[in-house]
Amino acid sequence: MASHSTVTSGLKCRECGKAYPEAPVHVCEFCFGPLEVSYDYAAAAKTLSRRSIERRPHSMWRYHELLPLQGEPRVGTTTGFTPLVRAKNLGDALGLNQVYVKNDAVCSPTLSFKDRVVSVAHSKAIEFGFKVVACASTGNLANSVAANASAARLECYVFIPADLERGKVLGTSVYGAHVVGILGAYDEVNRLCSEIAGKYGWAFVNINIRPYYSEGSKSFGFEIAEQLDWRLPDHVVVPMAGGSLITKIGKAFKEFTQLGLVRKHPVRIHGSQAAGCSPIVTAIKDGTTVFKPVKKPETIAKSLAIGNPADGFYAMKTIRESHAWAENPTDDEIVWGMKILAQTEGIFGETAAGVTVAGAHRLAKAGKIGKDEVVVISVTGNGLKTQEAIAEAVDKPVVIPPSLREFDEALKQGLTPPDQAPKAAAAGR
Ligand SMILES: Cc1ncc(COP(=O)(O)O)c(C=O)c1O
Ligand SMILES: [Zn+2]
Repeated sequence: MASHSTVTSGLKCRECGKAYPEAPVHVCEFCFGPLEVSYDYAAAAKTLSRRSIERRPHSMWRYHELLPLQGEPRVGTTTGFTPLVRAKNLGDALGLNQVYVKNDAVCSPTLSFKDRVVSVAHSKAIEFGFKVVACASTGNLANSVAANASAARLECYVFIPADLERGKVLGTSVYGAHVVGILGAYDEVNRLCSEIAGKYGWAFVNINIRPYYSEGSKSFGFEIAEQLDWRLPDHVVVPMAGGSLITKIGKAFKEFTQLGLVRKHPVRIHGSQAAGCSPIVTAIKDGTTVFKPVKKPETIAKSLAIGNPADGFYAMKTIRESHAWAENPTDDEIVWGMKILAQTEGIFGETAAGVTVAGAHRLAKAGKIGKDEVVVISVTGNGLKTQEAIAEAVDKPVVIPPSLREFDEALKQGLTPPDQAPKAAAAGR
């Protein structure tokens, strides 16, 4: 790994601009605005070029000058640099000619883009001297916080809504984390965690470490630009929960442009949420500047079910300033989105991917994405973790005894699934 130069210069309030020294704090004590990491871009430019980046290891750390660590990453050294897939078949299904899928369903180590934010958060927590990491999560963050805590030998507490998918819960417990299921929606989990963070002094990755943690999402945008051969796309479609990823993709494109790594190009940064929990999309569609929190999210896309998004305001700003739009597909459309992605590209994304693909479909139908424009669809998590959402919507296997005659017979009948052809399933018993 290349040695890491220090180019961060503390924190700055996004609203009033007050500067703070580097510390595990996230809110401005003067105006309560969110704090953000500042960089010395002139210093970063000295070592960052297309050629220098291309020579570095295939991970998110190839952009280390634009990530907020003082030293080397302590965990997640293999995280990121996931495939950008030229998705011609999906494009055919959507009526678009230049579709790409950014595939974080295969991000290391826990198969979602949250590995990007957590590798920064845990490394930063270690730099600050914390021994315990924690988070409030809709599932994917829990998986990554727990896995990376094991690797970093940190103690770990994870707080989740008690009704998450089995794969998300097991995919946290297996790492030996303390998992606490809360009888309530994510916003209630998050509120409780703010109190716990204040009382116990743990590193809550998405509370007191949030300014550093959230910077990790920029690497998703950096990689898109590099993998398009150092060009920006015409459109990206991004799933939104708290609204941080979409905001940071916008920031990544700006930083690369400012540093001269890509040519200035307008990118429309579209957002997508499930109809059953779409506070940001609703505000965009209504043309309002404040969003109305959703009290009781109801959708199969549990990973995106945040009724009161922490970065909702900045997500709206990112969408509006890029002259983009936002969509909120129904649960039926989300299932369709998961299936069409799997059946055209062989990529099994989770419910959030269904939200994004279905959102892109709506955008294409409405003419918001032109037929020949370059669009990147963000697949941010893996479908094996959310099997419940799609279990009833896919064919069951045909079950036969191990005999060629039985197979010939089943094939003649079109390998019809058992619930549609009880005779084929029962044959030969
Ligand atoms: C798979 C997946 N995609 C997208 C998101 C949205 O991220 P953000 O909260 O940064 O908007 C999440 C958040 O949990 C997620 O789990
Ligand atoms: Zn401030």
